[in-house]
Amino acid sequence: MSIASPTLTSPLAAHLPWIREQFPSLALQVNRRPAVYFDGPGGTQVAARVIEAVTDYYVRSNANTHGAFETSRRTDVVITAARSAMADLLGCRPDEVAFGPNMTTLTFAMSRAIGRELGPGDEIVVTALDHDANVAPWRALAERGCTIRQVAVKANDCTLDLDDLQRQLSPKTKLVAVGYASNSVGTINPVAKVVQMAHAVGALAYVDAVHYAPHGPIDVKALDCDFLSCSVYKFFGPHIGVLYGKHEHLARFQPYKVRPATDEVPDRWETGTHNTEGLAGVSGAITYLADLGERLNPQAETRRQALQSAFQAIKQYERELGDRLISGLKSIRGVKIYGIQDASRFADRTPTVSIRIDGHEPRDIAKHLGDRGIFVWDGNYYAMTLSEVLGVEDKGGMVRIGLVHYNTPDEVDRLLEELKAVAG
Ligand SMILES: Cc1ncc(COP(=O)(O)O)c(C=O)c1O
Repeated sequence: MSIASPTLTSPLAAHLPWIREQFPSLALQVNRRPAVYFDGPGGTQVAARVIEAVTDYYVRSNANTHGAFETSRRTDVVITAARSAMADLLGCRPDEVAFGPNMTTLTFAMSRAIGRELGPGDEIVVTALDHDANVAPWRALAERGCTIRQVAVKANDCTLDLDDLQRQLSPKTKLVAVGYASNSVGTINPVAKVVQMAHAVGALAYVDAVHYAPHGPIDVKALDCDFLSCSVYKFFGPHIGVLYGKHEHLARFQPYKVRPATDEVPDRWETGTHNTEGLAGVSGAITYLADLGERLNPQAETRRQALQSAFQAIKQYERELGDRLISGLKSIRGVKIYGIQDASRFADRTPTVSIRIDGHEPRDIAKHLGDRGIFVWDGNYYAMTLSEVLGVEDKGGMVRIGLVHYNTPDEVDRLLEELKAVAG
């Protein structure tokens, strides 16, 4: 299989052979054909460094924390290293990074803590575009008497209706929960602007960056968000959730915690024993991304700079690959694409594309592809309100094709051929 395509101009294309070597699972065959992983928005493949780091942890460092012996001391080092790696990825201080099992659990923990201070007369704003993990934890505050308001999404291009956001905001608004990018249709929201609008009425801004994280650079200080959550299994690492919070908030809000556990920030937000082998893998994933950045930009002086270089190149490459996918899809009879389709606006979307094909159930299309070694998701992928707004919730949802930077033009072409065969 040829990997790089002469039509791609992104600097990352030249590194594709190296990139693909870093992911052992890409060698998988299904029915004697190479597997094609277009299921990234549900969880990406894992870099070899992650697997090595997890194995190394079990062999050399496996223990609980804060003990007076070697493996426990090494465990403490693993946790500190993971915090500092995530801080470099997000652009914050290590003590502003808390780990947990996944984004959903961390967000429920934070909503319970923030909810302790809220009651009747307080309002929370969620959006119709978000994954339910950034909706349900906030909707739960209705049990405390809070009013929940929902920002509309424009069905024609699946972008947030910012005029509606403005209408939903008032001095009663205490928190705005917004996604950085839609895991269903790829829309990248103008998050810095949403944060500004939230702050203008004195509300906190909670950003779900789970879908965005594998696709572009994150700078929490530039966004000025109060909280931002993401999940490392969506960006080439293990199943670990991450919560960034401004230090003042992590210190002021009161978590539900067991009494003997430390009250230090950020540890007070980390309920129970860590998945420390997973945290070793977090550092592994970030090392992989930083190595990619150094290959692309040997002048990078810090890990943060290398990560920024990696993500700039990933963004450019994915934009070209997404363009190839969307223009190919447009040429297939009976395919309906949801979300932004105009190439001049591709900076406002990730290469996550949801479609339906006339006369075919999404599950049947996903199965047809799956049988031929092409992995895609079907359904609503928990972005349930959007699926309702688009009128597909009771029709099997959509088929989601999710590209990440280890995918190739050949894989896109193989998918397009298969979809042409399905459409007939
Ligand atoms: C945009 C988005 N937010 C939140 C989540 C939930 O993340 P987790 O599985 O870490 O709870 C997902 C998972 O698919 C997602 O895509």
